[in-house]
Amino acid sequence: MNEPSLVSMPTLTIGKLTASVPIIQGGMGVGISLSSLASAVAREGGIGIVAAAGIGMLEEDGTTNYEEACTRRLKSEIRKAKALAGSQGIIGVNIMVAQSNYKDLVMAAVEAKADLIVSGAGLPLSLPEYTQGSEVMLVPIVSSARSAHVILRRWYERYDRLPDAIVVEGPLAGGHLGFKPEELLEETLTLESLLPGVLQEAETFGNLKGVKIPVIAAGGVFSGEDIQKFLRLGASGVQMATRFVATEECDASPAFKQTYINARKEDIVLIKSPVGLPGRAINNSFLREISEGLRVPLRCPFHCIKTCNGQESPYCIALALVQAFHGKFKNGFAFVGANGYRISEIVSVNRLMASLKEEYQRVVQNLELLPPLLSPI
Ligand SMILES: Cc1cc2nc3c(=O)[nH]c(=O)nc-3n(C[C@H](O)[C@H](O)[C@H](O)COP(=O)(O)O)c2cc1C
Repeated sequence: MNEPSLVSMPTLTIGKLTASVPIIQGGMGVGISLSSLASAVAREGGIGIVAAAGIGMLEEDGTTNYEEACTRRLKSEIRKAKALAGSQGIIGVNIMVAQSNYKDLVMAAVEAKADLIVSGAGLPLSLPEYTQGSEVMLVPIVSSARSAHVILRRWYERYDRLPDAIVVEGPLAGGHLGFKPEELLEETLTLESLLPGVLQEAETFGNLKGVKIPVIAAGGVFSGEDIQKFLRLGASGVQMATRFVATEECDASPAFKQTYINARKEDIVLIKSPVGLPGRAINNSFLREISEGLRVPLRCPFHCIKTCNGQESPYCIALALVQAFHGKFKNGFAFVGANGYRISEIVSVNRLMASLKEEYQRVVQNLELLPPLLSPI
């Protein structure tokens, strides 16, 4: 009997870039995804992402010279990631629109020759303007078809340009979420329900220029089976963040990674971030003190986020996340995706990618072996 042939995952093409594995590693700010993780993912054929959020705080002069420290460190991490990834490796950056120094960070990413810029937490309406003349691929993150429409229309009308791909991030993602708190309680709001509308917008605008805009599904994607599901639903790839935290190459401290291993389902909670958006995190004594009103507002040291009200916030999120990055949770906490509690060990990126590929192959083969649902009479 012939062995069933192994089905590999399809490649992912974003403009002039083609990744041999359709997985973008989600950007994770304040030091969690830097050159080590991004380059490891790129070496395995995925797209590695260095996150710009709060990156300057990892520099010695981060508190006194924040903006310059951010652009300096971002450029050095991109260059390092590219060197470690090799000539075929694809390295991008994640820059949140809400960052006060957004334009400077975008220009720094272009200067350091990032292959793509992934940008959400706000609508990146002026991104084409800031990157004019460069070859960097542009990938907005949206949480609704409406946001996709607004970006597509603005870029098409104002810049005669379209995004090279769109990430649609659903309610199970980690970090800040692009939904109202009450929306997150609706059971009907799922990544599966958001995807068709975004695919439709991408197709409608793509047709105006005769191009296919790939749509990438993000938020709660955990297994090879999930990847297969979203590709079958029309996505061209997935963005995954949480799973990459529990890897040897992730740039966070061992203690940060250990919080993922220890987290139980009931420990993963929604919080109200000072940034003005809900977020998903691992509950701990620091977050409990905040929810009980025990922490007092601090003087805002950075003004790093446009929408953050430093006067009224019970804590500085930038400082809390930098503490967590170093593994100090007395004054910090870790963001996580809704499926984070399913992680039980820290593995190499190579092993994680291999297991995702195996799971994907197994599901595809099982589907192929099934008889057709409706057989002709
Ligand atoms: C620790 C952590 C930090 C994150 N930081 C950022 C960030 O700086 N910018 C951003 O756009 N998204 C950020 N995210 C969201 C991820 O990039 C990603 O889209 C999302 O978490 C995908 O869901 P998953 O974690 O379930 O795979 C973060 C997520 C986590 C878990």
